[in-house]
Amino acid sequence: MEKLIELIFKNKEEGYWDFKKVHSVGIHKIANYPATMVPDMQYELIKIIAEYDGNIKNVLDPFHGSGVTLVESKTLGIQPYGIDINPLAHLITKVKLEGLNKKYLKSSLRRMEYEIFSRDIDYKKHHFNNINKWFREDIIRDLSKLKQIIQNEKVANIRRYYWVCLINIIKKYSNTRTTTFKLHMKLAEDISKIENKVFEDFIEAIHRNHKYLSQYSKENKYELKLGDSVELLKTYDKEKFDLICTSPPYGDNATTVTYGQYSMLPIYWIDYKDMDITTSNLKLVENYSSLDSFSMGGRKKWDTLLDSKVLSEFLDTIIDAKKSKVINFFMDYENSLKELVRILKKDKYMVITLGNRRVDNKKVPMVEFSKEFLVSKGFKIIADLQREIPMKRMPKKVSRVKDKSVHSMNQEHILIAKK
Ligand SMILES: C[S@@+](CC[C@H](N)C(=O)[O-])C[C@H]1O[C@@H](n2cnc3c(N)ncnc32)[C@H](O)[C@@H]1O
Repeated sequence: MEKLIELIFKNKEEGYWDFKKVHSVGIHKIANYPATMVPDMQYELIKIIAEYDGNIKNVLDPFHGSGVTLVESKTLGIQPYGIDINPLAHLITKVKLEGLNKKYLKSSLRRMEYEIFSRDIDYKKHHFNNINKWFREDIIRDLSKLKQIIQNEKVANIRRYYWVCLINIIKKYSNTRTTTFKLHMKLAEDISKIENKVFEDFIEAIHRNHKYLSQYSKENKYELKLGDSVELLKTYDKEKFDLICTSPPYGDNATTVTYGQYSMLPIYWIDYKDMDITTSNLKLVENYSSLDSFSMGGRKKWDTLLDSKVLSEFLDTIIDAKKSKVINFFMDYENSLKELVRILKKDKYMVITLGNRRVDNKKVPMVEFSKEFLVSKGFKIIADLQREIPMKRMPKKVSRVKDKSVHSMNQEHILIAKK
């Protein structure tokens, strides 16, 4: 047996890698994002691989989400590199990695509190498409004031920190339901019941979250790119990375997790320049569905068909109407894998966390597809760890046995392959 696998399971009781009782702590709680990974698990896994390998200086996560893998890697002294197409994920991860200029923070916090309750602050009522559908008038007024006060902050890393603190508040006080990642209106009755504590909540958040962040320093080396991995991965040199560790989307966003739709309300409040949105990538946030359609599998980009036995066998089992979406997704996925294979150093590891998803009630073979592809490129599959995870934010299935409620469970695979 490969020595690395022995280390992964050494002295671990059964179910250890399920990390069932551990929930995201500290730094990872400063802003919510869908489908985040378990920080302790990522930390432990990367630590074992890094110690075993003995020479891992950098790591790439090409779909970094809220940055769990990158932040945990940084804690282990590994230089983080990441890509995500979602400007909100980009901002959250940047703030976690860059840290805060704590010398200026104290006086800035005092100014914030003063200005929030001051009557003399000039601000413009903010506007974007459908703002009145998604926010009550008094909430728009108060968030507009906060937006202006945050924009008054001159130190960029402190300003970005304030925006991140505002994300959960924007979601909480919006008219969208919290039970789904999609934008879905609450009942009028529930909207009228929202108690406006926008200012109080924001002040509480900016005082609470900074202790989880490290001191800002120019020496703090990390590199984040905002955009489509399928394209941006081409910009890295061959064999640049010592480790690739990621959790790609499991299907096109529209039919799986709508990361884009989930993020649009905060994105429309936050200053674009602080999320690195410029004229060249403005199209990502053009409307409420653009981000999802630019994400993996969101649109048709390729003409050639994939040469995959696993995929063609799967396609034979589903109805024609559902095939093109699956093909679009796998083409994007394969093209990003191709680049990942190119930019990983020889003898180094690729760790991919993959979930199960069903189309036409058939299990999409993402794990088998990934294995087939990597093996065809000369990789050795070292491990396929399977862990049980609760399906997040899914309605509880009520079992008929004795009226007991049970959470539906799902399996997640952690594929470890060596180049
Ligand atoms: C499974 S999530 C990552 C979760 C992350 N590991 C975490 O713990 O938060 C997948 C991410 O892929 C991003 N994504 C989807 N399509 C992309 C693309 N074409 N290029 C870059 N990122 C993309 C989404 O925005 C989302 O943040």
